[in-house]
Parts: sequence; C-alpha cells; structure tokens
Amino acid sequence: MNGAKLMKYAKFQQVFSEAMVALSAFSAQDFFPASPMSRWFDKLVGLEARYRRIFLELDAYFEMVLSQHMDPGRVKPETDDLVDVLINLWKGQALTKDPLKALIMDAFIGGTTTSSVTLLWAMSELIKNPAVMKKAQTEIRNMVADKQTLQVDNLSKLKYLKMVVKETLRLHPPAPLLVPRETMDHVKVLGYDIPPKTRIFVNVWAIGRDPVRWEKPEEFYPERFDDISIDFHGSHYELLPFGAGRRICPAIHMGATIVEFTLASLLHSFDWELPQGMTSQDVSMEGTGRQVYCRKTPLYLVPSCKKQTHFP
Ligand code: HEM
Repeated sequence: MNGAKLMKYAKFQQVFSEAMVALSAFSAQDFFPASPMSRWFDKLVGLEARYRRIFLELDAYFEMVLSQHMDPGRVKPETDDLVDVLINLWKGQALTKDPLKALIMDAFIGGTTTSSVTLLWAMSELIKNPAVMKKAQTEIRNMVADKQTLQVDNLSKLKYLKMVVKETLRLHPPAPLLVPRETMDHVKVLGYDIPPKTRIFVNVWAIGRDPVRWEKPEEFYPERFDDISIDFHGSHYELLPFGAGRRICPAIHMGATIVEFTLASLLHSFDWELPQGMTSQDVSMEGTGRQVYCRKTPLYLVPSCKKQTHFP
C-alpha cells in the first residue's frame, strides 16, 4: 500500500469508528419517532450535523473504492472481490450508485466488527481456560500436519473448534440487542400489554446466560454442545447470536466461517501466553457498547511459534 492509500485507509478507519459510536448514540428520533420535538432535539445536541458529516466522509470513501474498481487500467485479482461482484450485478441497471454504496457499507459495518470482536472474546476465554485451548489445538494440529496450512475445507471436521466458537457466541454475542424490531399489532407477553408500534430490543446476551435454559451459564464450557443439537441458525431461541426471522444476519455462514477459520489458524500456528507477570485472573472480561458489545480493555497476548505440533 502506498503512502496516499495508507492515509486514506487510516482516515477511513477513523470515520468508521466514529460511525460505530454514532450508531450507538442516543437519538430522540429513535425513541419518539412520531414526536416533532425529537428532530428538534437531535438538531440541538448536534447529532444530525454529526450524522451528516460522517455520511459525507463515508460516501466519499465508497465513491473512491468504486472508482478504483471501475478504473479500466486496474490490475484485476485472480478472482472477483465483493465489490467487483456488486458492480457486475449493478451494470446495465437503471440505478444510481447509491444502492451499491449502501451494500458495501452494510458489509463493512455488519461484517468487520462482529467477526473481530468475536475473535477477541474467543481468545480471552481460551487464555482463561487453558485446558480448552489445549483440546482445541490438539484437534487442529492432529488434523493439519506439520508445515501444512489450514484450509477452509478442514473446518467441517473440527468439531470441538466449532463448539468453542458456539460457546463464545453464547456468552458474547457481538450484537447483544440484535437490530430493533417494532410491533405491528397489540400483543401480550408474559401478561404485559405491548401496544402496536412499540420498539422492541431482543436481549440475546441475557438469553444466552439464562439459568433456566443453560446449566452453569456463566461457565465457558464448549462440551455442553457435545450431545445437544442446539445451533445458531435462528430456530433455537436460546442461542441467537445471528438473530432470527426475516432480519437474521444474511452472512451467517460467512461470519461463522471467518471466525472459525481465523481462530483455527491462530491456534494451529502459534502457542499463546499471557505477558510476563500476568495471570489469567488479570484478564478483564468487562465489555462495553450497545450496538456491538466488545472488550472494554485491550487483550494482550504473546504468540510464539508452536513447540509441539502433535499432542498425544
Ligand atoms: C461473527 C460474525 C457475525 C455475527 C455474530 C453477526 C450477527 C448479526 C446479527 C445479530 C444481525 C441482526 C440480526 C437480527 O436482528 O435478527 C446481523 C445483521 C447483519 N449482518 Fe451480521 N453478523 C456477523 C457477520 C457478518 C458478516 C461477515 C457480514 C457481511 C459481510 C454481515 C452482514 C450483516 C448485515 C448486512 C446485516 C443486516 C441485515 C438487515 O438489516 O436485515 N454480518 N448480523
């Protein structure tokens, strides 16, 4: 990456982080959409101006990405990337570039933070539970021989690793309240009357830790999935890290694969330790954020080249 590109990328990262914070910010229009006072309130506290600035900066970035991809002099990679695929679908349609940019933004916002946040929670749990880390490494290293690199095809056979990811998503769903819903009609839930047009947040974080549904819910114990068929594809309501129904994450398979593959690669190629002088009790598991629930503090780990490839 040359200097100018690096600058643009750094700027994008900054605007992207600002967008994530702005999306989680309290907006009067979100909570009182019918009230004319809400818009006035959001303007007064500067939220509308902030949204507009972030929108213009993101729009300029996506415009640049599209121009680069449509440049006839561009050296094309061997296979089309997501942007190429979207451009091909869009070509010949009587549409502006706006839907294209919106789709790219959805993929960026929906795809990048969720997967990286999940990976960080997984590594945090593994460093606190060394027996689980060792068991997952044994499975991977016994399957993928020395000096070979892990392939996506290997994932289907990594049963324990998949349980580790499932357990991570149970305890740490990156989108703890899903996307907001609105009731269409009057409903009664557990004796409470919910009028139509009420905004609903589904707390999947709390559902994943419900002691009525889960034995020792606070414990990180991937083996709990060994003999039960509960999965995260939206039909088992006790485990909904990707949501359910019409708004379920459209990239559920891609998201799960990214996390499984990256985690498996990290565990295959490296041994992981805490920095000298730190114990697992020092690793804070405090989280923060409403839209995306991530670690509050950075996770510091020391990788070293694996000492032992095959465990007994
Ligand atoms: C560990 C990975 C991921 C998790 C846990 C996750 C989780 C979620 C959740 C909970 C929702 C809301 C579903 C609902 O409310 O029912 C969602 C929506 C969405 N996700 Fe994901 N996601 C992940 C990865 C990805 C990836 C890789 C992409 C794209 C490349 C993506 C794109 C989207 C989009 C575009 C939506 C919005 C769908 C809509 O508005 O209807 N996600 N995701």
